Amino acid sequence: MSSRVGRLKHLIDWKFWPDDEVRLVLGLARKVKRHRWEYQGHMQGNTLVMLFQKTSTRTRVSFEAGMTELGGHAIHLDWNASNFTLSKVGLETRYLSRNASLIMARLRSNDDLREMERHASVPLINGCCNLYHPCQALADMLTIAEDRAARGKAEDASGANAARLVEGARVVFVGAYNNVVNSLVSICAALGVHLTLVCPLRPAESIDEEARQGLAGLGLLVETLDLRTAVQNADYVYTDTWLDMEYFNDPAYEKEKQRRIELMMPYQLNAEVLEGSSARIMHDMPIHPGYEMSEELVDDERSIIFDQAENRLDAQKAVMLHLLHELK
Ligand code: CP
Repeated sequence: MSSRVGRLKHLIDWKFWPDDEVRLVLGLARKVKRHRWEYQGHMQGNTLVMLFQKTSTRTRVSFEAGMTELGGHAIHLDWNASNFTLSKVGLETRYLSRNASLIMARLRSNDDLREMERHASVPLINGCCNLYHPCQALADMLTIAEDRAARGKAEDASGANAARLVEGARVVFVGAYNNVVNSLVSICAALGVHLTLVCPLRPAESIDEEARQGLAGLGLLVETLDLRTAVQNADYVYTDTWLDMEYFNDPAYEKEKQRRIELMMPYQLNAEVLEGSSARIMHDMPIHPGYEMSEELVDDERSIIFDQAENRLDAQKAVMLHLLHELK
């Protein structure tokens, strides 16, 4: 069992964290990125278990690379090749807590994640479930902070005031109301970011209504279907897949996929929609060119998509360092 004492904390979504702690972690992410090699060895002797029930490129690579750079070790555990398929989630999680310092889990169901949370005695990080994607949202805010710093917004040398860099930014998200949106809504509330949602597709089971109302109550949320006007008033325009990743190539979802494509095609981000807009273009990847975004935009001079993907590394590092620091 872990011999650490202190406050055990998990990251399910930013809405469960106090605002000042969200700001702190964003500042740490920027600091870790700017002073990358100073953090070498900070995870020495620690093992992260990365449990995946769904596919991943960025989450897998950035968590593992992050642990490597910090001097720790990461184990990839495929849910389907593990005994999570045979036993109870709680029992398997209790075991993981005996051999690992941290657990990151990408699960299909938030219910299973919450079951892991109830049984984990080491920090548990949500690597994306059906309801939330908090690590992505942190990387998104780090990307905006860096972009605004590059454009001359004032900051201090340590990067600790990254939250002030993002405060007041105007972000437009266009796409399906999904797990990425829920975590974006939560983090925008914590950081004072203006969010405009252009979400014609709103599956009720995907929406965290409490988080949505929280951001609206702060006067930071606009919802509209007028994409062209929205992008003209935006600093950042962000889109994501129209169909949950696990269903994209599943023949059982072909009918729903076609329905969504028909509904969402008028909301594709492309050169025509973005004409005259200086908004930076964001996408959390993987991209489905020709659907939510035309391929030409990936390398458009306004695109910061690969910076955003790169920033997953420092965002994960900051989360892991913060959660283990909490235990010391
Ligand atoms: N954005 C994101 O989470 O990427 P992966 O699904 O590839 O991990």
